Amino acid sequence: MSKEITFNRYLVTAALPYANGPLHIGHLAGCFLPSDIYVRYLRAQERDVKFVCGADEHGVPITIRAMKEDTSPQDVVDRYYDLLKGSFDEFGISFDIFSRTSNKGHHDTAQEFFKKLHNDGVFEEKESEQYFDEEKQQFLADRYITGTCPKCSNENAYGDQCENCGSALSPEELINPTSALSDAPLVKKKTKHWYFPLATYEDWLKKWLLEDHKDWKSNVTGQCKSWLDQGLRSRAMTRDSKWGVPVPIENAEGKVMYVWFDAPIGYISATKELTPSWEDYWKKDDTKLVHFIGKDNIVFHCIIFPAMLQAHGGYVLPENVPANEFLNIEGQKVSTSRNWAVWVHEYLKDFPGQQDVMRYVLCANAPETKDNDFTWKDFQDRNNNELVAIFGNFVNRVMVLSHKLCGGKIPSFHMDSKDALDDQLYEKIVLAKKKVEEAIEKYKFREAIFNVIDLAREGNKYLQEKEPWKQKDNQPYIDNCLHLGLQLMANLAILANPFLPNTSKKICSQLKVVDKMLEWKNAGSLKLVKTGYSLRAPELLFAKIEDEQIEEQVQKLKANAMESKEEKGSSEAINTPIGGEIQFDDFTKIDLRVAQVIEATKVPKADKLLQLTLDLGFEKRTVLSGIAEHFKAEDVIGKRVALVANLAPRKMRGILSEGMVLMSEDAEGNLVFVSPDTEASLGAKIS
Ligand code: 2FM
Ligand code: ZN
Repeated sequence: MSKEITFNRYLVTAALPYANGPLHIGHLAGCFLPSDIYVRYLRAQERDVKFVCGADEHGVPITIRAMKEDTSPQDVVDRYYDLLKGSFDEFGISFDIFSRTSNKGHHDTAQEFFKKLHNDGVFEEKESEQYFDEEKQQFLADRYITGTCPKCSNENAYGDQCENCGSALSPEELINPTSALSDAPLVKKKTKHWYFPLATYEDWLKKWLLEDHKDWKSNVTGQCKSWLDQGLRSRAMTRDSKWGVPVPIENAEGKVMYVWFDAPIGYISATKELTPSWEDYWKKDDTKLVHFIGKDNIVFHCIIFPAMLQAHGGYVLPENVPANEFLNIEGQKVSTSRNWAVWVHEYLKDFPGQQDVMRYVLCANAPETKDNDFTWKDFQDRNNNELVAIFGNFVNRVMVLSHKLCGGKIPSFHMDSKDALDDQLYEKIVLAKKKVEEAIEKYKFREAIFNVIDLAREGNKYLQEKEPWKQKDNQPYIDNCLHLGLQLMANLAILANPFLPNTSKKICSQLKVVDKMLEWKNAGSLKLVKTGYSLRAPELLFAKIEDEQIEEQVQKLKANAMESKEEKGSSEAINTPIGGEIQFDDFTKIDLRVAQVIEATKVPKADKLLQLTLDLGFEKRTVLSGIAEHFKAEDVIGKRVALVANLAPRKMRGILSEGMVLMSEDAEGNLVFVSPDTEASLGAKIS
């Protein structure tokens, strides 16, 4: 377990987004919304907290974008900084500072950090031959070298990773490496770099991660463990480039820091920029440092940055890194290059004033333990069935009834008329507060928000059971019911505030109380609103979302993706060379048949497998298919597929798979079925 310590201050960081693209809802769900909820909760508890973020403005993709747009990297990051900041502000992500890594202050901090490690002899200096593009006159970042993966033969592997088999690669391992920037042949040139010797910190990391932090989320620990099991290698912390933080030592002309070296130091420089007492947050042991990130950042925040901090000395280490998984959109991975995303600035335009609806949906459906899917239909359902029908409905009923039956004033509570339902309601409020707290402290924000909705649901039940409208002659009974209803409404405002801050403010306004009531310590009280005070007129908190609005969004998503495909033209085509020649006889050995999926279920404990029952007309087959990360079981039922029907049966996870369903994969790694036309008969041969 983590060391038992009372924390007197909190430093919460959210991963610095790259300043080369707009913000999409996957970013919000993965990192910015959970961090914002956590911070709003801590602030409501009057804990000392700083929430820091900024734009990550270095790195090769930014220089490439500038090159393509025939402009400077500074121009690119200036534009995207403004767009990102605007989206965060308007959406209500309440950073204390949103800084940028191109700031001089950041360069100074990162250079001091680098110099200290250098002076302490931490780095290994190594000369190596690296690929150089003679036409562009530059060394190529690993990402801009493509070639064939030595492990799985995928011909479109990158110099740092093969996205087909997931192997981490170095450009030297690629077969037939080529430049992604020009057609010039690659040459190798000598260059010197400074390497961080991760292996030196391996034992320390093992203990720190696997023994001292057993309470971290299992998806995070699992990834760290797999990195540690593979053994850690030294990593170059410098690059040959003009864009980045210059390496501040002798004989390092033309070298800048690797973007993943300077970016996390951005958390330190942002805190420095924010407050003169920044050292309290970074150097005192009673600070709780929490990094919120998406899963693709785990290794950098759980292994590399902690090792850098440890090597430097004097800084606190993260107490937790509650990384989320990915949020897919309508069944497909978010892809900025294919424009398959819901952009935050567009949402804000299309749904003005409805930040809380998206906050609610993304929190209720947060990819906390596994990848999740965002669909516009689910967005509509959650709004209409949960926010409108439960939360908004309760608040509206209490307000309308208070106006109708109590003259628009907060009625008194008559102790002598109190009944068991009133007592139970109080207990439910106290219990909900406890449950929400416990869940938030464990970074279980979905569970937390469901407890808030459940409390509103209890409120509706209470009104339904009490039926004050049927007790016209019993004013004390009516008064008690609405007095408690209004107190519950105030409690809901407090508990919902970290998640739905705009809604909580609206509730305060209807109750005519100041926002200070929203302090967390007030929750659980039945004295939040005062007898005799008047209420404002009822106003609906949420509006129903109509089918047309949803249809419009789905169409927009598809149209954007289509447009981007057309813009790119044939560049989306997969340029994989044709495989080795076979004879006609080889081909005829394969018995391909038309079949239809009639049942589909996810195979327990296998992330990738769906178990399909296929109808071939004359018989049914069970086939396991590795498509579960791309399709939901219910979505594949009814599909026509091409089946390799005479493949030798294979047992996987104890289930016999009798054949293979043909799929094709696009440039983004999305799978699509190779589907026979609906006119083809089931069981028909494909030849
Ligand atoms: O993945 C990303 O978007 C990175 N820009 C995150 C950087 S987080 C931190 F280290 F600054
Ligand atoms: Zn591979």
